[in-house]
Amino acid sequence: MPLLNERFIQNIVILTGAGISAESGVATFRDADGLWEKHNPMEIATPEAFARDPELVYRFYNARRRQLPAVQPNAAHRELARLQREFHGDVFLVTQNVDDLHERGGSDQVCHMHGELNSMLCGGCGERMPAEADYNGDSPCPGCNARGELRPDVVWFGEMPYHMDEIEARLADCDLFIAVGTSGVVYPAAGFVQQALLQGALTVEINKEVSEVTGLFHLQRQGVATAEVTTLVKELLAG
Ligand code: OAD
Repeated sequence: MPLLNERFIQNIVILTGAGISAESGVATFRDADGLWEKHNPMEIATPEAFARDPELVYRFYNARRRQLPAVQPNAAHRELARLQREFHGDVFLVTQNVDDLHERGGSDQVCHMHGELNSMLCGGCGERMPAEADYNGDSPCPGCNARGELRPDVVWFGEMPYHMDEIEARLADCDLFIAVGTSGVVYPAAGFVQQALLQGALTVEINKEVSEVTGLFHLQRQGVATAEVTTLVKELLAG
């Protein structure tokens, strides 16, 4: 990849999406067998859906949380963690994923812009807590004891993703932006490539298919994340 070697790279921002966890056995959203094939996102992943049918929403997230111990991080998670440890510059990892596979793959810094399955949030007192079990509309908040106020600590459609100030600051300062396994249809994450381009950053996409935003990247590496991330990390560490 000549373009990579031609540049001195100091600050990297990596955005990951559901595709990076696909080879671990976690369903993506928009692939043929994806979660949004089986469920209507507007009936699951909006504040209105939660108000209308909280038990349906609890069941969806309980099931996904219960799956976590049964899946393992793959080579793509582990290689990104290695890049974070061994790269001479800074590597900021931001994920749209709510699973914990980056952390279990060895990453010490993971910015979960869409929240985490392993966290619950009380709409009453605002406290966040580790998710420890299945939840339902009767589950009390350990902080304020209110019932019916706990919700999955995830960002739903119509809500503002977490940590946007920090993400924008990192994008404003990056020389290399890498997107892995994301379809490029959900904003603001889908717009990060444009923000990075405005800063003059080199942009690389890894995806097994052409995404909505492939044409915006300088380089596209088409293939599965385990193979393509491993190759890219090797090149970056060698450079
Ligand atoms: P999507 O399901 O929309 O897209 C997954 C992408 O990963 C697709 O472009 C696939 O081609 C690609 N892919 C699948 N398997 C792959 C593999 N083994 N290697 C490389 N690429 C692979 O998932 P996201 O883009 O993450 O938000 O979805 C973004 C957001 O939409 C999610 O965070 C979620 C969803 O609705 C909310 O719930 C708010």
